[in-house]
Amino acid sequence: MTPTGFSRLDGVLRAEGVPLPALAETVGTPSYVYCANTIRVRYRQLAQAFAGTPHRVHYAVKANSNLAVLSLLRELGAGVDIVSGGELFRARQAGFTGADVVFSGVGKTIDEMAGALDAGVLLINVESEAELVALDALAAQKGVVAPIAIRVNPEVTVETPHAYIRTGEKGQKFGIPRDDVSRLVARLRELPHVELRGLGMHLGSQIGNADPLRDALPRLLAAIETARAAGHPVAFMDVGGGLAVPYGPDERDADIGDYAQIVRAAAAATGLTLLLEPGRYLVAEAGALLTRVLYRKHAAGKDFVVTDAGMNDLIRPALYQAHHEIEAVVETAGQVKADVVGPICESGDFFAKDRALPNVAAGDLMAIRTAGAYGFSMSSNYNSRPRPAEVLVDGDRFAVIGARETCEDLVRLERASPQWRSA
Ligand code: LLP
Repeated sequence: MTPTGFSRLDGVLRAEGVPLPALAETVGTPSYVYCANTIRVRYRQLAQAFAGTPHRVHYAVKANSNLAVLSLLRELGAGVDIVSGGELFRARQAGFTGADVVFSGVGKTIDEMAGALDAGVLLINVESEAELVALDALAAQKGVVAPIAIRVNPEVTVETPHAYIRTGEKGQKFGIPRDDVSRLVARLRELPHVELRGLGMHLGSQIGNADPLRDALPRLLAAIETARAAGHPVAFMDVGGGLAVPYGPDERDADIGDYAQIVRAAAAATGLTLLLEPGRYLVAEAGALLTRVLYRKHAAGKDFVVTDAGMNDLIRPALYQAHHEIEAVVETAGQVKADVVGPICESGDFFAKDRALPNVAAGDLMAIRTAGAYGFSMSSNYNSRPRPAEVLVDGDRFAVIGARETCEDLVRLERASPQWRSA
């Protein structure tokens, strides 16, 4: 099992060399805490597994889009996979150039695609014929040729912990159904302002075994063959993200060696440069949400632990019934079976149900683990709660890389008195 960066010394949970109680004292709670060295280790594991195969890791920004996390990954050699103009802006703020960027997503606006062309992105991953036609017209207007990849929906069976994070199955909104690829490729003849440089897919997220990949790769290879046979200068094969990480004590690491072997073999057959779009794998385990217990409550025969973090800070349990391990930061005697709930006015605002936990008391700190991916990036201001601080730990040092929002931030863009205008 790869170290996550979180460990105990004398019963106290630390992020790398920084004890979490000291961190909580300085930055308050709730706060996201990320371990830089875990991200480094994960990146290198992946890069090593693909060493010898022409490839580039394009980190999926949506998993954790903090500028310092992006910069860290850039320094390690990553490119980025983005899905919005906002993510392009972030990537550039973090020092990525256009050539580092692959632009995915099923609903890119004309403005977003214009921004991507101006930035000189490596590839725009096209997901529909309508988008392809719109992009061609836009590129014509700008007097450029847009480098594109076709995202293929290989229509395989994908097993993930929740249906919402499957994308490569039949009937989903993502990609071009595999049977429509040749029609789209034929259509390219009429569209001189796009150039087909790659084909790709993304099957889903938190994919626990290699079966979907094994089923999908031949279908992607067939699509690549179709494009090449039509004379397109295909140079890239994008296999998306989706590598799983363990969330529970009985879950295991994704077999990165197995994954790499399957993907490398497929890529080798094409001679293409491989693009990987991992998000979760690089950052999930590196992060924890640090929260303080506000109250213990006993009601209707049940125990509740009420925390100062809520579903607005970490929505995965509410949205996907996702499991996150929860630990007492300072080892505590005794156990309790309780629901861990936040302060939000929704019954879905929970982090755990009927979970065996250390017998924490009001004022105690808890760490909600494996929260580095899709934690802060999916957080909101629901219930008018300022979003938490984000802290990066690197060895014995820490830095606030995202300041805690204030109540002023909540209303900064709003007006109590509307300034009326006529249409
Ligand atoms: N590439 C594309 C085109 C994607 O849509 C995604 C994720 C990724 C790469 C990265 O996938 P990863 O390696 O992180 O599995 N919010 C959900 C996950 C949604 C993933 C959406 N797309 C969660 O919290 O589990």
